[in-house]
Amino acid sequence: MRTPFIAANWKMHKTVVEATTYAGIFRERMARVRDAEVVLAPPFTALHAVAATLEGSRVGVAGQNLHAEPQGAFTGEVSAGMLREAGAAYVIIGHSERRQLFGETDETVNAKLQAALGAGLAPIVCVGETLAERESGRMFQVLNRQIEAGLVSVEAERAGSIVVAYEPVWAIGTGRNATPPQAQEAHAHIRQRVARALGGDIAAGCRVIYGGSVKPGNAGALAAQADVDGALVGGAGLDPGSFAEVVAQSAAPAV
Ligand code: PGA
Repeated sequence: MRTPFIAANWKMHKTVVEATTYAGIFRERMARVRDAEVVLAPPFTALHAVAATLEGSRVGVAGQNLHAEPQGAFTGEVSAGMLREAGAAYVIIGHSERRQLFGETDETVNAKLQAALGAGLAPIVCVGETLAERESGRMFQVLNRQIEAGLVSVEAERAGSIVVAYEPVWAIGTGRNATPPQAQEAHAHIRQRVARALGGDIAAGCRVIYGGSVKPGNAGALAAQADVDGALVGGAGLDPGSFAEVVAQSAAPAV
């Protein structure tokens, strides 16, 4: 039985004041939530303050990105150790916006994954095809490449904390989510490829979460799929009430 995993990626939204106000409201909303791992990913500037606001609660904090090196002359970058010390226990790696707008590749994803695991951060590794790739029948090929190259050379004893997020690029911020059967098809495939990369035991326990226009109203039907273990939420994660509703629907999809 995999514990549902639900994360809000705030992207480049929220000042420190806005972020801590949200975190204060949200921690109250989560006080009665059991059997779900719930995470907020604020921008770096608000990460420490959000972690402090959530201290002692069941809600964790994630970085949205990291640099693969532990330190050095990398202006504008942040390391895994810095994220850990600021209060993060998780980090998002290879989000499609990082791949498309900032030139990240499967190789940089793998380097960042190794750095995160080395520092004790649980990685949330994003994969997913573009609309052109799906429509030209290359979806599985793209997912295979992203998983194979992204997860290469990971030590089995460290791999248990890896979460994989399936985020079809055509569904992100578009209001057009994958249907539950489309998500299930991709997630089952991803789990098979994770098994190839990391072994069957790791794959069986790995949370494969869905991202792309998740909101109250579709979260439950997505999470009810056998291989959908939660959600990575953008737009609907910017409001504590709507994100709390997504958590409730994802954690208890049958209700
Ligand atoms: P969205 O974003 O929920 O706004 O589509 C998802 C994401 O980018 O993780």
